Amino acid sequence: MPKSHLRSTEWFGHTDKDGFIHRSWMKNQGFPPDLFDGRPVIGICNTWSELVPCNAHLRQIADRVKRGVYEAGGFPLEFPVMSLGETNLRPTAMLFRNLASMDVEESIRGNPIDGVVLLCGCDKTTPSLVMGAASCDLPALVVSGGPMLNGNFRGTAIGSGTAVWQMSEDVRGGKMKLADFMDAESCMSRSAGHCMTMGTASTMASMVEALGLALPQNAAIPAVDSRRYVLAHQAGRRIVEMVHEDLKISRILVREAFENAIRVNAAIGGSTNAVIHLLAFARRVGVKLELDDFDRLGHELPLLVNLMPSGTFLMEDFYYAGGVPAVVRELGDLIHDVLTVNGKTMRANTADAPCWNRQVIHTYAEPIKEHAGIAVLHGNLAPNGAVIKPSAATARLLKHRGRAVVFESIEDLKARTDLPELDIDENSVMVLKGAGPRGYPGMPELGNMPLPRKLLERGITDVVRISDARMSGTAYGTVVLHISPESAIGGPLALVRDGDEIELDVEARRLDLCVPDAELTERRAAWKAPAPVATGGYQRLYIDHVLQADQGADLDFLVGCRGAGVPRESH
Ligand code: FES
Repeated sequence: MPKSHLRSTEWFGHTDKDGFIHRSWMKNQGFPPDLFDGRPVIGICNTWSELVPCNAHLRQIADRVKRGVYEAGGFPLEFPVMSLGETNLRPTAMLFRNLASMDVEESIRGNPIDGVVLLCGCDKTTPSLVMGAASCDLPALVVSGGPMLNGNFRGTAIGSGTAVWQMSEDVRGGKMKLADFMDAESCMSRSAGHCMTMGTASTMASMVEALGLALPQNAAIPAVDSRRYVLAHQAGRRIVEMVHEDLKISRILVREAFENAIRVNAAIGGSTNAVIHLLAFARRVGVKLELDDFDRLGHELPLLVNLMPSGTFLMEDFYYAGGVPAVVRELGDLIHDVLTVNGKTMRANTADAPCWNRQVIHTYAEPIKEHAGIAVLHGNLAPNGAVIKPSAATARLLKHRGRAVVFESIEDLKARTDLPELDIDENSVMVLKGAGPRGYPGMPELGNMPLPRKLLERGITDVVRISDARMSGTAYGTVVLHISPESAIGGPLALVRDGDEIELDVEARRLDLCVPDAELTERRAAWKAPAPVATGGYQRLYIDHVLQADQGADLDFLVGCRGAGVPRESH
């Protein structure tokens, strides 16, 4: 593309008052005049934040991207966007995914940017950046921050999140001392990077690689491995070429790429959160993708990657074993040969990808588990669908009928779950309401409800749990999530009462409330919608416009691609 066609020349390419303003103030940073000569301007969209520990090293990564951009003849400009951390942000980072995506979209469109490198890591930072960039449709390339080194507690590997859920249940069940639990904190998180289980961050880093939006090996290289810096450097070089090739994100995010991502997610035992985020991505670029596609394309696939929470290893091991390219190679013809950001096709990138450790990445012929992809359930409790991750569930509970023990809210759950008089046993079905997109608001990761102490003390490690919430990708159990429509808008979940029988049959893809229709009609007539949790600010906007989980939980007015047309001048 001739330089004069780049959108940044609409800022820097004029000799009038406006061109003066755009260049002159930029020069206060010490940029030589020739950087404004029409070369590609590369935005480096950075979610660095000390409040988001998983992304706290991203300024060093940005420096390596800049080296590559300069080498390739581009002009890199780093800019911050809202960063969302799972561990600190309340009431839940998911509430702000869509807000952050607006920040990204408008920051890209409103500035002299020709192509963008998206620096992300912690769970919601990847989707918010991809969603914002997708709605602009410029050349875009993701560089993930990479996972932390494996956790190690007294000689045993422990995984982010997964170990927390396990150890906290052990403390509550009297199997672990509190002092030991406290000791484990610094042993789990011992380097820069995001969760090193196959949680949501690792899953989404794998998803952008499987979509073709990142360079090969983006997902698994540890954050502190020098090869992470090499990848960032190469990404900087490549984004400049992508601008010259006009390789826009919409040429990467095609239907076949989403099908690849769904299949890779099944094979890696990826997070249920990928369902919501991929649905949202697809709707931003106008690709038709439905909740049932995850079951149709993914459920029959076997689990190939032996990582926590579905298995035993961690992301560092995954990288040493071959990472996502080795998984894609193993999936063979199930993967479409689509274009990726490095200008080569998925097959060209992975055809010779080696596997160095078959304990970590199994062959398709000898998988860890059969039929391990996410299953999508329907039934009178989930008319628009719900999801379960069979690879992280207890096999015998995948077909189960039990008595509901209902918690009306997270506060109700916390107040009563450990009471000795709670009427619950191992056959019960724990039900949580009010944790969907509108009800909480923001659809938090509460679906893996802690087991009541009286069950833990009896050695019970899992019961069926159902809700309209999400769950952390690091979590496990027989947990039905994302029930749609949610309880706060009168979905059937709102009508469940203590003692009702609930039937889960994953093989038949059913989730049913075994209560006569006439009784449900009566309950519906008596049901009153809860008052909205927020009456103003962004949360009010969110509650008024958020879509349900089966539609990606985006805001209705953000769906679609609005392009990167150059806005009017500011002066
Ligand atoms: Fe950031 Fe897990 S808390 S990735």
